[in-house]
Amino acid sequence: MRRIVIAGNWKMHKTQADSLEFLTGFLPQLEATPEHREIILCSPFTCLASLSKTLHGSRVMVGAQNVHWESSGAYTGEISGEMLTEIGVRYVIVGHSERREYFGDTDETVNLRLKAAQAEGLTPILCVGETKQQRDAGETETHVVNQIKRGLVGVDQSKLIIAYEPIWAIGTGDTCASEEANRVCWLIRSQLANKNVPIQYGGSVKPTNMDEIMAQPEIDGALVGGASLEADDFARLVNYQ
Ligand code: 13P
Repeated sequence: MRRIVIAGNWKMHKTQADSLEFLTGFLPQLEATPEHREIILCSPFTCLASLSKTLHGSRVMVGAQNVHWESSGAYTGEISGEMLTEIGVRYVIVGHSERREYFGDTDETVNLRLKAAQAEGLTPILCVGETKQQRDAGETETHVVNQIKRGLVGVDQSKLIIAYEPIWAIGTGDTCASEEANRVCWLIRSQLANKNVPIQYGGSVKPTNMDEIMAQPEIDGALVGGASLEADDFARLVNYQ
């Protein structure tokens, strides 16, 4: 049985106060959530400690949005795995397209971050996905397969989550058709030694399309940006039908 993992990626949104207010609205709505669904909130670094303290003993896990590959050193602005696990963080997003586009992450640095995260006991969420130009040029498959192959060299597939996030669907309201997302998730799975790695879809997931996305056989969850910022919306997603 593959796990179902639903994660919110808050990106650079929410102060510490905002994050705790979110929980006040969100947690009471988890009473009827089926037990086997894993729920993760990936917040800015500044919220992680207070979220992790408040969520201690609850079923909601805390994730970061980046991790460095060294355990310490002269890397201004970076955070190590140990700094995250010390405050109760269990997951980390690695290789999000925004990190690749704006902050220079490559398949090689993504690979280093994945291995460092696992060495510290974190479960990384590896993000892959094509641009609109790559899709239009018929390069989706080769691009995604390359990201998977290069990113996963030496990575333990038993402690891994993958998110397929077509870049053109992120924050645009232009969701990838669920059958097409399913097809690419199947392609990703075909590249894996461990067929049980949870594969999420991400890109304009909303309360209105979540049920359809989750009905696809190769999609094991969602990585959600905008719709994870509102407690009611994110509760609707984790309580999908
Ligand atoms: P949206 O859900 O806002 O499209 O963002 C998706 C995403 O980038 C999650 O990592």
